Amino acid sequence: VRLAYKLAPSVLAADFARLGEQVKTVEPFADLFHVDVMDGHFVPPITIGPVVVKALRRVTTRPLECHLMVTEPDRQLPQFAEAGADAVVWHLEASPDPRPLLRRARELGLRAGLAINPETPLAAARPYLPEVDVLNVMTVNPGWAGQAFLAEVLPKIREARAAVEEAGLACDIAVDGGVSLETAPACLDAGANVLGAATAIFGQPDPAAAAAALRALLEERVARTP
Ligand code: DX5
Ligand code: ZN
Repeated sequence: VRLAYKLAPSVLAADFARLGEQVKTVEPFADLFHVDVMDGHFVPPITIGPVVVKALRRVTTRPLECHLMVTEPDRQLPQFAEAGADAVVWHLEASPDPRPLLRRARELGLRAGLAINPETPLAAARPYLPEVDVLNVMTVNPGWAGQAFLAEVLPKIREARAAVEEAGLACDIAVDGGVSLETAPACLDAGANVLGAATAIFGQPDPAAAAAALRALLEERVARTP
């Protein structure tokens, strides 16, 4: 199967005073934008909500994927749909039975995904893989940009790719956290096809050049895949 490789810059490390401008700078290299929503409960920090998504919606035509690190995704999800999100990803740890919310996301016309923390085994998400568009495999503990990549998650990525292939599913496998030019190759080798990255893009002196370099890494994979 030919994988669609995607780069998902995460705005969490952007300069929020110039958010629109920063998004525009990396847009040519981005397949979608990853928007980290934290509620101060599921994770300690509070980040951004639907008003920012609404503002971003006016700036870019790229899909906006909201990663909900919130304790009540069922209560929050509709607001993000309303604000213009194209995809929502929420944590299995916050919603042990994701089926009703998956249904709701579909009704709202959204792409839907599940995220799993580093300690959560693939087995927890496996039953839902046929119903989701993306499995977001966290390669850091959620909460902050700029954390170190957890290489111990790599076997789980491999396992996820095997499960998806075995069942012939279209589910994307995304990595999120500590993804950089140094760590991305191992993620791609393990079977991830979506790279989420905040610091490796917006934390760099030249975000466009950094995004271009990650993009080049993906293009090289495409070229190498038979
Ligand atoms: C972490 C967020 C990530 C974060 C990644 O809780 O879900 O999406 O933005 O940041 P970096 O790429 O800096 O690790
Ligand atoms: Zn995220």
